[in-house]
Amino acid sequence: MKRSLLVAGFLATVAGFTPPAHAQDAAAGAIVFNAVCHLCHEVVEGKNRVGPSLYGVVGRRAGTMPDFTYSPVLKASGITWNDDMLGKWISAPQNVVPGTRMTFAGLKDEKKRRDLIAYLKTLHN
Ligand code: HEC
Repeated sequence: MKRSLLVAGFLATVAGFTPPAHAQDAAAGAIVFNAVCHLCHEVVEGKNRVGPSLYGVVGRRAGTMPDFTYSPVLKASGITWNDDMLGKWISAPQNVVPGTRMTFAGLKDEKKRRDLIAYLKTLHN
């Protein structure tokens, strides 16, 4: 009896394994990315769509991917993509850089924005 309880406990531990919180956020963020950003952005290095590749975007200066033609306003923005700026950008890009070519209304759900940024942070080597 005791032995089978131990085995059951072990199995439950394995089945119920929970990854660290940030990994959960990033996994949720990947789902958000695929639903709302992937239409225009790839996460593969150097692969652009309507929008530039978002590989390595966190910490990058805005408008500096060599193979992508940005709007002059984004290039001149002087932004560096950190958590704060990404949060504002994703929530309302036209408010951050009026005239940007990113025609995206904005993601109003704060949790989804945070998850999305956690995911963007995983896109580097
Ligand atoms: C309708 C197409 C479209 C959608 C949807 C879209 N983007 Fe964009 N995105 C663009 C375009 C186009 C640009 C370049 C804007 C410019 O040059 O003004 C851009 C630029 C960016 C940049 C700046 C990159 C750099 O190299 O400076 C980031 C960051 C970004 N998008 C993130 C996102 C995220 C995250 C989402 C999902 C919430 C998203 N975008 C959804 C089209 C889109």
